Amino acid sequence: MIELKEVTKEYSKGIAALNGVSLKIEAGEFVFIVGDSGSGKSTLIKLIMKELDPTSGTIIVNGQNLNRLKHRHIPKYRRTLGVVFQDFRLLKDRNIYENIAFALRVTEASPRVIKKKVPAALSLVGLAQKYKAFPKELSGGEQQRVAIARAVVNEPVLLLADEPTGNLDPTNAWEIMKLLEEANDRGTTVLVVTHNQEIVNEMKKRVITMKKGVIVSDEKKGGYNNED
Ligand SMILES: Nc1ncnc2c1ncn2[C@@H]1O[C@H](COP(=O)(O)OP(=O)(O)OP(=O)(O)O)[C@@H](O)[C@H]1O
Ligand SMILES: [Mg+2]
Repeated sequence: MIELKEVTKEYSKGIAALNGVSLKIEAGEFVFIVGDSGSGKSTLIKLIMKELDPTSGTIIVNGQNLNRLKHRHIPKYRRTLGVVFQDFRLLKDRNIYENIAFALRVTEASPRVIKKKVPAALSLVGLAQKYKAFPKELSGGEQQRVAIARAVVNEPVLLLADEPTGNLDPTNAWEIMKLLEEANDRGTTVLVVTHNQEIVNEMKKRVITMKKGVIVSDEKKGGYNNED
């Protein structure tokens, strides 16, 4: 599903945010990425989204070599991904229904499909009743649930989440992780960057630990490595 071969990313010459990272993630896996601030986690996510290009090395996602992906094909590639960020990134001037419908419209889904899929996605995250609300009328946890509904409505092959629980209290953080796990149960490969030690330790998933741009450990059913 994802393969990185000797991937290096230098934002400025000589300073590597990622330094020769090689990594394989199989279809259907659920993987946590952990590590200190500045260790390269978000850089890794951005490379997989092709928001950034590596300075050297190869990234293959779903059989597609991202180095060779033409600029005009990037939007189509992104539509195969679901992405969730710490700050939710909902459209503020649209209600919840429209936020999710928007994600479907860009895939040229028909009105009939939209009418069916939006309520289904909202039900999955327990927000079917709130479809008319605007983002600012929802709590942080609810907003993140909407962001997850939006990320999964297209049934992405890969879901990327960069600190999805960073702004949430422990109860809401657990709810969000459970929703990501459910998406994984439905077949989506899930990659989650997090600083939440308790959740990582309890969920017993694969854990990749980064430090200063390299992978320092990669464990099946791992825990949060905190050497500092
Ligand atoms: N746009 C940029 N321009 C220059 N340097 C950058 C840029 N983005 C990140 N960096 C640097 O690259 C390194 C890795 O950053 P990255 O954002 O990937 O870290 P991170 O592991 O996600 O950290 P955090 O846990 O704080 O989010 C850091 O040293 C950072 O300062
Ligand atoms: Mg980051």
